[in-house]
Amino acid sequence: MINGKKVLFSGMQATGNLTLGNYLGALKNWVALSDEYECYYSVVDMHSITVRQDPAVLRKRARALMTIYIAAGLDPDKNCIYYQSHVSAHAELAWILNCYTYMGEMNRMTQFKDKAAKHADNINCGLFTYPVLMAADILLYQADVVPVGIDQMQHLEITRDIAQRFNGIYGETFTIPQAYVGKTGAKIMSLQNPEKKMSKSDENPNASIYLTDDPDTIMRKCRRAVTDSEAQILYRDEQPGVKNLLNIYCACTGKTPEEAVKEFDGRGYGDLKLAVGESVIAVLKPLQDRIAQIEKDKDYLDSHIKANAERAAYTATKTLRKVQRKVGFPDRIR
Ligand code: TYM
Repeated sequence: MINGKKVLFSGMQATGNLTLGNYLGALKNWVALSDEYECYYSVVDMHSITVRQDPAVLRKRARALMTIYIAAGLDPDKNCIYYQSHVSAHAELAWILNCYTYMGEMNRMTQFKDKAAKHADNINCGLFTYPVLMAADILLYQADVVPVGIDQMQHLEITRDIAQRFNGIYGETFTIPQAYVGKTGAKIMSLQNPEKKMSKSDENPNASIYLTDDPDTIMRKCRRAVTDSEAQILYRDEQPGVKNLLNIYCACTGKTPEEAVKEFDGRGYGDLKLAVGESVIAVLKPLQDRIAQIEKDKDYLDSHIKANAERAAYTATKTLRKVQRKVGFPDRIR
């Protein structure tokens, strides 16, 4: 509890162009939950360097991501929005937790296997222990809830395991976090291959809708979305392309899948794709306008970057000191 509220932590990587999946699976829920919780939203730039980055591009993207957080509706006066690399406690706790995490546990992480296959020339130790840094992110703030898409569930499980293990050895230290996964946007699939998740790193630009896509591009991508030859609009696993379009539609409009199926009863895929495109544009166009607005005021963002990093560091350091004491590091002389 902080300020009488439960705590929420989440983060996003500043790599690649953010997709509609990032928005519907995570960001949208962050905004919905932000009044109820004491919130920490990090631009997790330390996670980004597990894959080689162009430094200038990373810096630019990190700032753009912070702008997106605010444009999506997270008030930086109320929510602690900050760069992970500005709070050194993340790296310090990650080191300690590395010593309480087993190689076998990390070996089971599917994201590590996927990324290692994709970047076979750079399978570095950071990529391997990435989930430990993620655990440190969450546990530093004693988070009760972590809103994420389904692809991060395995990392959330390992975070809980590490926290429980540590608490088991040293007594109550960390809050055990719960994942929060939305009903319809939790796994947005590729528009070109509905068996695969929509991803920033997909080589086919038609597979993903990017947050920066203009209305024409969004419409074109929706029209080209892969469906099937069943010619009926039902919400079921046997029609993954149609199901994905309905999920996007529901996450954008707030309708339930049952309502959407009723609405499209007897209509064709062309109608569905058009409605999906319109619902996405209705969400993304205002977001893009707000991004442009915030980008104009450099001082506004800068002042929040500094103040929020200090706020985050204050909370994080409190947990870190407690952990350092428990594992036996000598007290600091004041
Ligand atoms: P990242 O940057 O890959 O994704 C950010 C968030 O977007 C969600 N997401 C999706 N949701 C639905 N459908 C999709 N196609 C889709 N693609 C991405 C992700 O689930 C995530 O919630 N390791 C994390 C970042 C991180 C983090 C943390 C998250 C670092 N530390 C602590 C929570 C708490 C990642 O790479 O997310």
